[in-house]
Amino acid sequence: MSGRDDKKIGFLVSGRGSNMAAVLEEIAAGRLKAEARVAISDNPEAPALALASGRGLPAVTIERKNFPRRQEFEEALVRVLKEHGVGLVVLAGFMRLLGPTLLSAFPGRIINIHPSLLPAFPGLEAQRQALEYGVKIAGCTVHYVNEVMDGGRIIAQAAVPVEPDDTAESLGARILTQEHRLLALAIAGL
Ligand code: GAR
Repeated sequence: MSGRDDKKIGFLVSGRGSNMAAVLEEIAAGRLKAEARVAISDNPEAPALALASGRGLPAVTIERKNFPRRQEFEEALVRVLKEHGVGLVVLAGFMRLLGPTLLSAFPGRIINIHPSLLPAFPGLEAQRQALEYGVKIAGCTVHYVNEVMDGGRIIAQAAVPVEPDDTAESLGARILTQEHRLLALAIAGL
């Protein structure tokens, strides 16, 4: 299967997993016509792993340090994703740049969520970057993934105001609420 009908999702995660959980909830409630197949973490300590298995989703750890080069690491990721019949790869807090092995295995079928209005503030601590720059509007972006960090074509964005007394945490929480909504919406529209 390919194209618009292929919403068999494989999540790549590194941490908390709240974006993955939001998508799982939309699927479970019948509001998002998609199927979750597997969650893969590069971090064995990621809370997202327990969260996935708690919801009956196979949860797999694949650590970068167990492979000599990125190519072998990505081959392992591709193997597990294909074994689970994944047709759409969703990066939900996966803190790694992807290379040609993974990108070419799922052409045009890998998306990412990022907590800024790209192309502003790519990379780590986007919420803190936005606050330090002094922007008055912040937000989040769902985009296709390419080899450039947070660089692929934009699918959807949501904006939030920056309040005068915001900290990176309070702004991050406001953005996160929108992330949870936007990711499921973006997947629905693919
Ligand atoms: C989210 O805010 C996501 O946008 C961000 O990591 C957090 C993961 O939270 N991703 C990036 O910064 C990618 N460049 P979660 O694990 O609770 O979904």
